[in-house]
Amino acid sequence: MKKINFAEPFLNKSEKKYINQAINSKWISKGLFVEKFEKKFSNTLKSNFSVSTNNGTNAFLLILLTLQLKRGDEIIVPSMCYISPIHMIKMLGLIPIPVDVDVNSFQMDSKLIEKKINSKTKAILVIHNFGGISNIENIENIVKKKKLHLIEDVSETLLSKYKNQYVGIAKKESNLKISFSSLHATKTITTGEGGIIFTNNKIIYKNLKKIRDHGIKDSSKYIFDKIGGNFRLSNLLCSIGYAQLFKINEIKKRKLFIDKFYKKEFKNLKSVKMQYEPKESKLIKWGFPIKLKNKIKADLVKRKLNFNSIICRPCFRSLDTMKHINISKNHRSFFNSRFLQDRILILPMHSNLKLKDLKFIVKIVKKYG
Ligand SMILES: Cc1ncc(COP(=O)(O)O)c(C=O)c1O
Repeated sequence: MKKINFAEPFLNKSEKKYINQAINSKWISKGLFVEKFEKKFSNTLKSNFSVSTNNGTNAFLLILLTLQLKRGDEIIVPSMCYISPIHMIKMLGLIPIPVDVDVNSFQMDSKLIEKKINSKTKAILVIHNFGGISNIENIENIVKKKKLHLIEDVSETLLSKYKNQYVGIAKKESNLKISFSSLHATKTITTGEGGIIFTNNKIIYKNLKKIRDHGIKDSSKYIFDKIGGNFRLSNLLCSIGYAQLFKINEIKKRKLFIDKFYKKEFKNLKSVKMQYEPKESKLIKWGFPIKLKNKIKADLVKRKLNFNSIICRPCFRSLDTMKHINISKNHRSFFNSRFLQDRILILPMHSNLKLKDLKFIVKIVKKYG
């Protein structure tokens, strides 16, 4: 039986062509593809600046270091998300303050945010879960009112649009947000391992680049004037990313086809609920989340998919269930993330899926869901 992977990169001759060029140039660490990749990403998404990093986790760490957040500062986060950004917050001695997710969109519930803001709050980290999008307009209003930083993790929704604007990209004239994405092999655009940061703010851009490279001021004299590290993505991997960016229309087309297929098949099914999507959004998803009636059903569907060599993913766990994150007692009321964590399954959404794969997946979900 052919295995259906949860995720696969969409690679062909063009990645080989550009990586060969990078190898032939002998510039395999720094090199011309780094700038070419970043420029093309900026032009494609209409961001003033892009900064590549060696993975998504470090993209966020670099943002936190650049914003100079201090031990004890609080950051608002969703109560259910991929763990990587939460670990970076904890690693710097910052405090993640979770906000419960909405039961229909599976995203941080913007109506609950303001209650959690106090004088220690410095930023809101929006993590757009499972290819969906959070209520970003409400969150932007809160950020403006309370004068906070807005950071958006678009790893699972890269290339999605809301009101015809790429998610995570501020309007040209606005400095309001910094966003980032992982470019891991499972993501819509990939470099294998990698990350990318988007900002419209020139000062932040310059600082991101400096801290990415050990805080360097003048490399010809080994002069450094900021604490930094090595967060660089290599020329080899940027050449792969550069090739990927020429294919975004094809990737979008394929993902939209899969999305439409799942939606049509699940539309009239009582046993399967799909994620709420705002009307004016056009989502390019990392995976396709479905909500089943209860834990027994979700476990059964997962087992049956696996038995048929189809790899799906479970939901992320509610942050309050993880002892090592040590969420303060005052913030432990996460009814929806506790409810959803046992019911959501994430179906494959990658660009190499064929119609017969999709029909097979749907057949099993319908039979056991
Ligand atoms: C939402 C989200 N944030 C951050 C990361 C971390 O990125 P990386 O694995 O590239 O470090 C991932 C996934 O890998 C993710 O899905």
